[in-house]
Amino acid sequence: MSGLAGSRILLVIAGGIAAFKALELIRSLRRAGATVSCVLTRHGAEFVTPLSLQALSEAKVYTELFSLTDESEMGHIQLSRSADLLVVVPATADLLAKMAAGLADDLAATVLLATDKPVLVAPAMNVRMWEHAATQANVRTLRARGVHLVGPVEGPMACNEYGYGRMAEPEAIQQAIAELLDAPRPLAGKHAIVTSGPTHEPIDPVRYLANRSSGRQGHAIATALARLGARVTLVSGPVALADPPGVTVRRVETAREMLAACEAALPADIAVFAAAVADWRVDHAAEGKIKKRPGAAPPTLGLVPNPDILATLAAPGPRRPTLVVGFAAETDDLMANAQGKRERKNADWIVANDVSPATGIMGGEENAIHLVTAAGIDTWPRLPKDQVADRLAARIAAAVR
Ligand code: C5P
Repeated sequence: MSGLAGSRILLVIAGGIAAFKALELIRSLRRAGATVSCVLTRHGAEFVTPLSLQALSEAKVYTELFSLTDESEMGHIQLSRSADLLVVVPATADLLAKMAAGLADDLAATVLLATDKPVLVAPAMNVRMWEHAATQANVRTLRARGVHLVGPVEGPMACNEYGYGRMAEPEAIQQAIAELLDAPRPLAGKHAIVTSGPTHEPIDPVRYLANRSSGRQGHAIATALARLGARVTLVSGPVALADPPGVTVRRVETAREMLAACEAALPADIAVFAAAVADWRVDHAAEGKIKKRPGAAPPTLGLVPNPDILATLAAPGPRRPTLVVGFAAETDDLMANAQGKRERKNADWIVANDVSPATGIMGGEENAIHLVTAAGIDTWPRLPKDQVADRLAARIAAAVR
């Protein structure tokens, strides 16, 4: 039976021409056995009427944040939690921006901020608005927080332009809803440790050694493993990313703190070391800020090696996680180095990627990886980092089952 039967869906309908497609969606969701409630924004009501939504959903339509009856019957917190899934149809550029910024200035935005349930958005807007850096940044933020997207798709638009921005068809939205409700949780009961981001190694209280890692790939892997049901501890160096939903985050600065946080999180079934850990730290960081004195020679930094977190946790022993995955970011001899690293560090798998500046991978949005296992090397196409994460999480789930 489809996960739709018996499910409770809260549809948020915002103000766009695609709002009329929400009517068809309600009809087909109900046909599949779902209960549908609707929140209609003020602008949404310019395109569809509360009455038509109420007639199709056979349920009360919510429009006002401060309606006394609604607050006594069902407050906005309750409304946001009583559904299995929240679906925004259409998700306008404005509502996506509000969601990304955490605004709560009307019922729709408040419900979306207050919910602890999965959220699926179906963006619909003019192609320029969709492609605008602001919208793209908002979408990245929302994705990183675990919001699911369906569409937009390419095609002719109501405004006579052509391109990406058309809302996905109701059938595709329903399919995405069904997939989310049916989402398998093959990693339920498993604990995964993921390291992410760079480390900062102090030179003195104000200066440090660091690298260009953004943490995007590691954070996306933590999100993907959690989505498959794993309990995830994400040990993160300093990054400018939101904490992934449903993940325990331990923030650290240095490699030694990262190692300690990983050891404290044991035991684990899975460990993925995606962090770009500094190989060296400054021996005896200065306690006070190193002064620049006119005419004096620049200071010399003496470096000592950092502990290798991957090699330490992958060493044979009773606390070794069942599956240990390392990364190899290389600019030369990628495969040979990755193979060597797998054996030397006793990792089960190595995710190898070329981080030469021309690839734009380090700190960028996409990744092109080779998965090195005992069985050989799989080369994946260049993909957004969240899709690399989903694929890797699926491989991990198949391996530790
Ligand atoms: O030796 P290299 O730094 O290239 O190895 C990369 C892999 O080892 C990554 O998985 C990285 O997270 C991990 N590593 C580590 N601790 C270090 C250095 C690297 O866990 N000190």
